[in-house]
Amino acid sequence: MPHHPRPKALFVVGTRPDAIKTAPVVLEFRRYPEAVETVLVSTGQHREMLAQALGAFGLKADEDLEVMRHGQTLAQVTSRVLEGLDETFERHRPDVVFAQGDTTTTFVAGLASFYRRLPFAHIEAGLRTDTVWDPFPEEYNRRAVGLFAAQNFAPTVWAADNLRREGVPGASIWVTGNTGIDAVRAIAGQPGDPWFPSHTGRVVLLTTHRRENWGEPQQRIAEAVLRIVNDHPDLLLVVPMHLNPNVRATLEGVLDGHDRIRLIDPPDYADFVRLMERSHLILTDSGGVQEEAPSFGRPVLVLRETTERPEGVTAGTAKLVGTDGEAICLEAGRLLDDPTAYAEMANAVSPYGDGRAAARVRFACLRGLGVETPEEAMWA
Ligand code: UD1
Ligand code: UDP
Repeated sequence: MPHHPRPKALFVVGTRPDAIKTAPVVLEFRRYPEAVETVLVSTGQHREMLAQALGAFGLKADEDLEVMRHGQTLAQVTSRVLEGLDETFERHRPDVVFAQGDTTTTFVAGLASFYRRLPFAHIEAGLRTDTVWDPFPEEYNRRAVGLFAAQNFAPTVWAADNLRREGVPGASIWVTGNTGIDAVRAIAGQPGDPWFPSHTGRVVLLTTHRRENWGEPQQRIAEAVLRIVNDHPDLLLVVPMHLNPNVRATLEGVLDGHDRIRLIDPPDYADFVRLMERSHLILTDSGGVQEEAPSFGRPVLVLRETTERPEGVTAGTAKLVGTDGEAICLEAGRLLDDPTAYAEMANAVSPYGDGRAAARVRFACLRGLGVETPEEAMWA
């Protein structure tokens, strides 16, 4: 039974994707203030990029642990967040704690909930690769919270099946779609500056930040995209660089100074969504970007050796190319030079949801807490 007159849901975010994928759920809960109290806590694992992402939804954290330090190690983030959240949970005594995906913030929000025996609700549950080491440390993070989550909101049937295979009770699993699709739909179409209005050729977008790709793989990625740009005189390559100094040094080392390459600071979410729309082709190692790009019919080449999102590959919206330079040039060249190959990917249908995931999460979670809210025929 809830301890409060109305149940209290505490949402924990820390990184850019946490903010973007959690925001639609927070906003959905806040449509029902008489039914549930909603608290948004930031660990501050990211600073500027988190504020930027929340700002796109008109949100600001109610509390911020401000843990970010430059050059922070995983253990440092983990221990600072664990202590901070434990104190936060003590004060708030929430009836349910939410976190999304697979970041350190998510793992620690789970661990702190477990230690206090608080029900933990996992948004974007059930994604898996076949090794706990890749992606590192994200695969461990999401598996760990899957051991005890009271509610698992799986974006797809595939993700829900992964959980069932691991023995997660079926009654705790809901297939909702990915809340990132709710986010991108809420933001797409907002007015804003057009990107590169005077460029008449095609725009190619590159983002890369994953730990597995730091160093040599990222160097190979950068050298490959440089070749692609040099081989296609109409292309403009745009590279929004993650604020991590490791990532920026490699990209700048190879790509800086080219007249058809723009190395830019991370645009805020609304601008980034417009940039995806403006792009002809997207090369990325990001999880969220590979889910969002098909919403605009943009083919995605995934610059990773494994993916926990095989649904896009199966649907034909994304192709897993890895980080070998030859493979990247070959696959990008095919899409840039062969209109049939391009159309096949551009017209494939996104498997990640219909934009109503947050409402499903709200309905299922609150029902679990004994509060009925409208169902709105959302499961059809
Ligand atoms: C984290 C997540 C990763 C996610 C990514 C999304 C973990 C272990 N990793 O990786 O799963 O894909 O976020 O972007 O949780 N920085 C800033 N300002 C910011 C954000 C970052 O300066 O607003 C710099 C800082 O120097 C910071 C560094 O980036 O130390 C790395 O940040 P961190 O959160 O540790 O790892 P990410 O690589 O961002
Ligand atoms: N994004 C953004 N600005 C950028 C790059 C990405 O707003 O410069 C958004 C993107 O649309 C997606 C999310 O950030 O919703 C993905 O974050 P990131 O790639 O950092 O993390 P991942 O999804 O790989 O964990």
